[in-house]
Amino acid sequence: MKSKTYMVIGSTGQLGTDMCDELRLAGFDVHGVDYPDIDIGNERSVASVVDALKPATIINCAAFTAVDDCETQRERAFLLNAEGAGYLAAAAGGCEARIVHISTDYVFDGCKDGFYLETDQTNPQTVYGRSKLEGERLVAAACENHQIFRIAWLYGIHGKNFVYAIRAAADKKAAAGEPLRVVADQFGTPTSTREVCRQVLRAQAISATGVFHATCEGDCSWFDFAGTIVTAAGIPVEVLPCTTEEFPRPAPRPRNSRLENRRLKEERIDCMVDWRSAFDEFLHDEKRNKEQ
Ligand SMILES: NC(=O)c1ccc[n+]([C@@H]2O[C@H](COP(=O)([O-])OP(=O)(O)OC[C@H]3O[C@@H](n4cnc5c(N)ncnc54)[C@H](OP(=O)(O)O)[C@@H]3O)[C@@H](O)[C@H]2O)c1
Repeated sequence: MKSKTYMVIGSTGQLGTDMCDELRLAGFDVHGVDYPDIDIGNERSVASVVDALKPATIINCAAFTAVDDCETQRERAFLLNAEGAGYLAAAAGGCEARIVHISTDYVFDGCKDGFYLETDQTNPQTVYGRSKLEGERLVAAACENHQIFRIAWLYGIHGKNFVYAIRAAADKKAAAGEPLRVVADQFGTPTSTREVCRQVLRAQAISATGVFHATCEGDCSWFDFAGTIVTAAGIPVEVLPCTTEEFPRPAPRPRNSRLENRRLKEERIDCMVDWRSAFDEFLHDEKRNKEQ
């Protein structure tokens, strides 16, 4: 008989850790695996780990996520974000499992006015974005039963992310008596790992396949989000807006990362909440975690 097991790849990463927790909370049998117990860039490693368990669903949260480093490590970016995703999808197909794969807003160029739909033209501007787009293509080609979730501006209690970076920078600026400058001309939607996990879980009840946008509701700039973070943390620092040009990065960031969850809405399973509510829940989770 086929097992009902979920296999989470990248299980100690920011999203993977919460994905395992969320699935266990929901009562599922979860097998989390991460490097070096699996190397997604090695086809044989992927095949043997997947074959040993024969899960019903593989959720791939593993990736090479250092966006700027991808610019100088193109081969590694494509090996892990594209080919590795394809190996996992092929292994899923081989045991009649579903592959759930996580992708990104970086597949777009950020030039659209308004929210991106799943049907909009992709046009990645970075090595990271191109490797992730190729990953989407390889996943879809290798396993018919695939769900690809494009997420953006991710943060959670188990990772390096914008929230922790802003708090650290704000503390330093406060100590120096200087203002904190944050980019105010890039827009998107802060999206918590908890919300992504719940949405992915909700989507396991439907048979629809393909690409789904899955971000929280609403939108803001990085400057707006930083203000919310600093206020919630009570850090006595002035937050000032600045432009993208004042903070050049090796990999250019999309000006517009807003995604609309159009397909999830059409399937009547969109359960993503407003980004501010998700952030409040994150603060609550963080507090509870510290108390434990
Ligand atoms: N962070 C964001 O803002 C954001 C935005 C949009 C989309 N995404 C996507 O969301 C997904 C999850 O991101 P995240 O922030 O949770 O990433 P993360 O914290 O960097 O976690 C990635 C995981 O992948 C593992 N990994 C790396 N190389 C591997 C390999 N060769 N074999 C097996 N596992 C390997 C890492 O292990 P090690 O720690 O040992 O390297 C880590 O546990 C990714 O697909 C990412 O592209 C993220």
